Order: sequence, then C-alpha cells, then structure tokens
Amino acid sequence: MKEKLVEPYYGYRLMKYFIMALIAGGIVSIALAIAIVFTTTGSSILCGVLGVILLSSGAFWHLSMGWVNDPEKIELVKDNFLDLLRNVWAGNGKVLDIGTGLGRVAIEIAKRFPESQVIGVDTWTKGWKLFGMTKAGAERNARLEGVSNRCTFQTDSALDLPFEDGEFQLVVSSFAFHEIKVPDRIVLLKEVIRVLAPDGVFVICDPFSGSFLKAYKVKNMPELLEKVQQMGIENAKFVGFKEAGVNLGRLANIWGIGYLSGRRV
Ligand SMILES: C[S@@+](CC[C@H](N)C(=O)[O-])C[C@H]1O[C@@H](n2cnc3c(N)ncnc32)[C@H](O)[C@@H]1O
Repeated sequence: MKEKLVEPYYGYRLMKYFIMALIAGGIVSIALAIAIVFTTTGSSILCGVLGVILLSSGAFWHLSMGWVNDPEKIELVKDNFLDLLRNVWAGNGKVLDIGTGLGRVAIEIAKRFPESQVIGVDTWTKGWKLFGMTKAGAERNARLEGVSNRCTFQTDSALDLPFEDGEFQLVVSSFAFHEIKVPDRIVLLKEVIRVLAPDGVFVICDPFSGSFLKAYKVKNMPELLEKVQQMGIENAKFVGFKEAGVNLGRLANIWGIGYLSGRRV
C-alpha cells in the first residue's frame, strides 16, 4: 500500500489548539462579564474570574511551552541533543530510545550515525495518541526518512524493559520520564542502567525542576547525581538547556529542562 503522507510528522500540533482554546475562552468570558455587568453582577463576576484564569493560563502555557509549536525551536532542541551525543558517545552499536513517541530522536540518531541500530520503545498512551503519537506513526516516519532497516519500534514500558542486562551502548529518552507515574522515578534510571553495557552512555532530556526532581525522591540535583553514581555510573552530570545553548524564552526555564547523563562503569 502507498504512503499517504509524504513528509514525516513529529509534532505537537494539539498544543497550539490547547493554548488557543484557553486564550479564546478567556477573551469570550471577559467579554461576557462586561456584557452582563449591567444585569446580574454575580454572573458577571463569575465570568470575569473565569476569563482571567483562562487567559492567564493560556498566556502561561504559550510563554513556557509554546516553543513546541515552533518548528525552528524544535529543530534547535533536536540538533542540540544530537550534538551532545556526538561528544559523549562513539556513534556505533545498539541504541535504545525510551518513550520514543513518533521516533523524533530515535530516527535522527539512525540518520546521523550510520553504524547504529536503534530501538524505540513506548506504551503509546491514550493521551499521547491524541497528539498522533502511535507506533504506526513512528514506523511511517522511519520509512519516510529511509532508516526503517536500522530503526525499529516496539510496544514496551520503561518500567519493565524486555532487554538483557548490558545490551545497549547508548540509552536516550526525550521528554518522556516526567510522563511516567511511579512512586519513585529512580526505578526508571535503574532500568536504564541495567540495560546499559559497560562503558555505555545514557542521556535523559527532561524537566528536572521542583516536583519533577522530587519525583526521584531527592531534595536537589547534587543528591540525584550522587544516587546515580552509587548505581554504577561515573561522570553523572546535569546540564540545563540554557547552559547547553538552547534558549526557549525566559518562562520556559521554569521547567528546569536539561540533560541528565552518565557513563556505565
Ligand atoms: C512528550 S512524549 C515524548 C515523545 C518523544 N520522545 C519526543 O521527544 O517527541 C512522551 C511519551 O512518553 C510515552 N510514555 C508514557 N508512559 C510510558 C511508559 N511507561 N513507557 C514508555 N513510554 C511511555 C508516551 O506514550 C509518549 O509517547
């Protein structure tokens, strides 16, 4: 059967509509509040409050996460991730991408590192299917990018990876760990380290501020790095997006997005 789409799609289009709906809802509510102020004051106050909440939520999401709708910024994030990999990894061997979505990172690794063999795993949760994130979508992207022979996808959870100990030279994950609800997110890192070969490298790109960090049951980043080192990792480090040269706008910094990385002893 012929492919309908001729271009790969990795995007987050739905985020644009979510932000637009919040802003439009806010404007409509405020307009309603003004319109009915002369009839029922109670309803007017309610509409006004709702309007302000919707409008400020829309503005907040736009300023902190609106970059996901900007193809240039998405490209910048992808390039920065891949450049970093070039500095820490030899570029050959088996690679695992956890929470691969539409294969954005997995496929790019296969494209830029011709001696790599990449597997992308995901549970493709219902919520993310709304964003068009499906296994079929990832496979279609790999075919369109010409790497389907070296980049494959399978339905598996980050919490229970069906791989042997020490199977991978590189394990990556991009914006997926914070999605996984577990009492202690350190179990995800344990699984990463288990499947990593000696001298293998992991790079996790994710938000690490506030509650995102607390999900690893630590008080601060040095404590997390210490825990990671104790699990058999050397050179554990965290580099924030800003420090890594990714500028997504001021409010985007509140998420503490960056790279947690290390090398298996
Ligand atoms: C924000 S998307 C990131 C997708 C992709 N890595 C990217 O950077 O575009 C988060 C992904 O994590 C996946 N996910 C959620 N829980 C998971 C789990 N337990 N194991 C593996 N993937 C999971 C979701 O299905 C979704 O595709």
